[in-house]
Amino acid sequence: MSSENDRMLRAETPLGAEIRFAARARQVLRQNDMGDWTRAAPNLYPHQWSWDSAFIAIGLAHFNTRRAARELLALFEHQWRTGKVPHIVFNPEAPPASYFPGPEHWACAAASPDAPPAPPYTSCLCQPPVHAIAALRVWEVAERSGGEEAGAARVFLRQIYPKFLLWHHYLTTHRDPEGSGLVTIYHPWESGTDNSPRWDAPLSNVEVGELPPYPRYDLRYVASPSERPTDVDYDRYLWLVKLIKKAGCDERNTYRSHPFLVKDVLFSAILAAANEALMEIAALVGAPSGDRTLIASWIARGHRGLNGMWDPELGLCLDYDLRAGRPLRSRTVAGFAPLIAGRQGSGRLEALLATLDSPAFLGHPWLHWPVPPSTSPFDEGFHRRSYWRGPTWPVVNWLLWWSLLRAGEPQRAEGLRQASLPQIASSSFGEYFEPFVGESLGADDQSWTAAVTLDWLANEPCQEERKVA
Ligand code: DGY
Repeated sequence: MSSENDRMLRAETPLGAEIRFAARARQVLRQNDMGDWTRAAPNLYPHQWSWDSAFIAIGLAHFNTRRAARELLALFEHQWRTGKVPHIVFNPEAPPASYFPGPEHWACAAASPDAPPAPPYTSCLCQPPVHAIAALRVWEVAERSGGEEAGAARVFLRQIYPKFLLWHHYLTTHRDPEGSGLVTIYHPWESGTDNSPRWDAPLSNVEVGELPPYPRYDLRYVASPSERPTDVDYDRYLWLVKLIKKAGCDERNTYRSHPFLVKDVLFSAILAAANEALMEIAALVGAPSGDRTLIASWIARGHRGLNGMWDPELGLCLDYDLRAGRPLRSRTVAGFAPLIAGRQGSGRLEALLATLDSPAFLGHPWLHWPVPPSTSPFDEGFHRRSYWRGPTWPVVNWLLWWSLLRAGEPQRAEGLRQASLPQIASSSFGEYFEPFVGESLGADDQSWTAAVTLDWLANEPCQEERKVA
């Protein structure tokens, strides 16, 4: 498939190649479609993942806005009473022994008085809240189509708005009892960047107790174990799950006793941007002014929190370990959090762009494609093949592209879009990519890679804007 895609892009007219590339991306989403929701990937991730679904809705919007809306509605059917949106909703039809830790491992989460009725079971973790951003994208596409599509999208926004409000309320209260503007995570899986060096220090303080033997089904679906987190990482992940379940999946208990308690700046920045989207949705659905005042206060608090985590020496924003009481000094794409949050003054924006262009990221001389490695090659935790320790990720490129457009940097944004599309075309919609030789790693036919491809193809700038700096 990879050489087929390559050949298509070289041999055809640019338009013909793009049409076929988009058709192939749509086919990935259809193949992973489970009716009302989409598997993150056919084998490695056979369930519904929260932030994957948000990106998937963005892609679906370009060929079926109603289906895109259902993707989000289906996820929010499993929202907890507290407002939490679980990071996984388990597919009852997934083959047995296909994913670990699966529904049987999380079943006790259903014992929590706050959990939704099961089956299907859900995890009791959460993931970055891209959902309102996605819903607004669905609306924008439907509005351009006009007529019934726009009408249906407006009904969708009315349906989902109160659920979003509850979700963001959960994140700004249960996950930020300090009112810091920064979201606390209890597990690296909540960050979505599981084995990033961001979490090395706080994880090293987690003392793993007695764990029964467990399977690593994930390793069956990748070419080499070096592409996935290590067994030592997994022991810690499972130990943290055990502690969270022991605390009854109750935030207050977890806050009191949990050994991994971290303020995640990427999660917090996505929340700040999602709050901006929520504000627009509030206006579209005619929400009461009290809601808008509340959302505005969340946005302001989010920006204050991120400001406080700026490290002028690295030119990046840093996560904060609440247990150790110190910032986590690693150089990863998460450090671009203020760019994603948006509304940066010119000084901060310049500093962020300088870091992005520097040899620590886009300016590194060995990069195969000019897209940022998830971890800087200058970071001691960098590993070129290992999941979030170095490989480049199309969804991260999408987030940065979208943020650069919002920041008034269309040429830089276009540079990322133009580098990302051939990277994806060189693969079968790979999950992540080795940064120096460009090899596709992890799963093939990854839904969110197909989804961002569709959004990029639909957002080709006009000729004038295409001139890349
Ligand atoms: C995995 O299984 O790799 C996920 O990131 C956990 O959510």
